[in-house]
Amino acid sequence: MDKLSIFLFVLLFSTIVNAGPGSHSLWALATYIIGETPFPEFSSVGMLDDVQVGYYDSKDKMSVYRGLNPTDKIYDDLAQEGDNVFGTMYDDMKERSFQLKHHFNLTGGVQVQQRMAGCEMLDNGEPAMIMYKETFNAIYTDQTVFSNTTHFTYDAGKLLLGWDGMMQDYKRTLYINVHLPRCIRTLKTFLKIEKNVVMRKVPPRLRLIKKEVSGGFQVSCLAFGFYPRHINLTLLRDGQPVAEQDLTVGEVLPSGDGTYQLRKSLEVSTEELKKRHDYTCTASHLSLDNKLDVSWESGAERVHLSTLSALLVMVLILILFSIFSICVKRRRRTASQALSQLANVYAKVAEEINVSSDSAT
Ligand SMILES: *[C@@H]1O[C@H](CO)[C@@H](O)[C@H](O)[C@H]1NC(C)=O
Ligand SMILES: *[C@@H]1O[C@H](CO)[C@@H](O)[C@H](O)[C@H]1NC(C)=O
Ligand SMILES: *[C@@H]1O[C@H](CO)[C@@H](O)[C@H](O)[C@H]1NC(C)=O
Repeated sequence: MDKLSIFLFVLLFSTIVNAGPGSHSLWALATYIIGETPFPEFSSVGMLDDVQVGYYDSKDKMSVYRGLNPTDKIYDDLAQEGDNVFGTMYDDMKERSFQLKHHFNLTGGVQVQQRMAGCEMLDNGEPAMIMYKETFNAIYTDQTVFSNTTHFTYDAGKLLLGWDGMMQDYKRTLYINVHLPRCIRTLKTFLKIEKNVVMRKVPPRLRLIKKEVSGGFQVSCLAFGFYPRHINLTLLRDGQPVAEQDLTVGEVLPSGDGTYQLRKSLEVSTEELKKRHDYTCTASHLSLDNKLDVSWESGAERVHLSTLSALLVMVLILILFSIFSICVKRRRRTASQALSQLANVYAKVAEEINVSSDSAT
């Protein structure tokens, strides 16, 4: 169920966890299921930034620490807080699912209600916001609550009747004065425990890659191996940033080793590539004092490379010819072997030429 909940939330999550570099967040991603499934009725994972730190489900009704430092003493307080928060969430979602089921007269089948609730802290330690968001059967957006230290907004959604004015006033006070500070406090406690993971800074490595595609070339700027996930990656042509709408911009993706990668690509026609342009891929990241960049010049390099290739071909032909004449004196079979070996060598050399135009840092 851990995996399922995380999977179901990834999209929503990635659109929300986007506060600036150095900021941190704590989220509970909860799922409540009506109907017969192999999964617990209610389950929730706790995430500190992109690291899972907790788990709770309706079978055990006990929050379990899932981080990397299970022996830490602070954990006792956190467990209590977890039982509290997850327990309340369980009751709340159960109640709401019940109402939704009746409202829509859903008698059978499986209904899934999901909630993400949590807070974000700025890099200076100040509270940024607290919010929760609910969806029903993954299509209907249900209620949304947002609050920072000064503003409170509430969207009742379209499924059920929302809170009345008095209730909203009460919730406003509660969110601003109780829930937000409490969530930030818990976030800070988790940060202390997990600092080696979530506060580490791993600089990106950059690569500028030129690849032939149908109709021309693709010049890609690839940043990889970095942590945290916030990065500014820009592709410049002759010193000018290429507009985002001209680029194919990927998502910041996990690399599977706890770091992230991001790719931005530009389509360049064959004619354009023959012209002299300076392509530069530049990145700024929390781990870097200065910008990191790699450059590559089109046009110029092409001339240079083709001259080199022509030279190599000539040399190879010469060698080939002399070996061939030697081989002719021997058996025919040996000669053809030597020839195919040489062809391989040539293919390798040609490949190297191509590869060397991918600049790396
Ligand atoms: C709910 O569904 C049942 C069975 O489909 C139907 O008999 C009943 O009238 C429905 N009730 C409402 C309030 O729509
Ligand atoms: C709180 O959120 C509101 C609405 O998004 C925003 O206008 C305001 O600047 C925020 N206040 C603080 C202190 O961050
Ligand atoms: C990216 O650029 C924005 C706007 O210039 C800046 O506020 C932010 O700190 C930068 N992020 C990183 C990771 O350098």
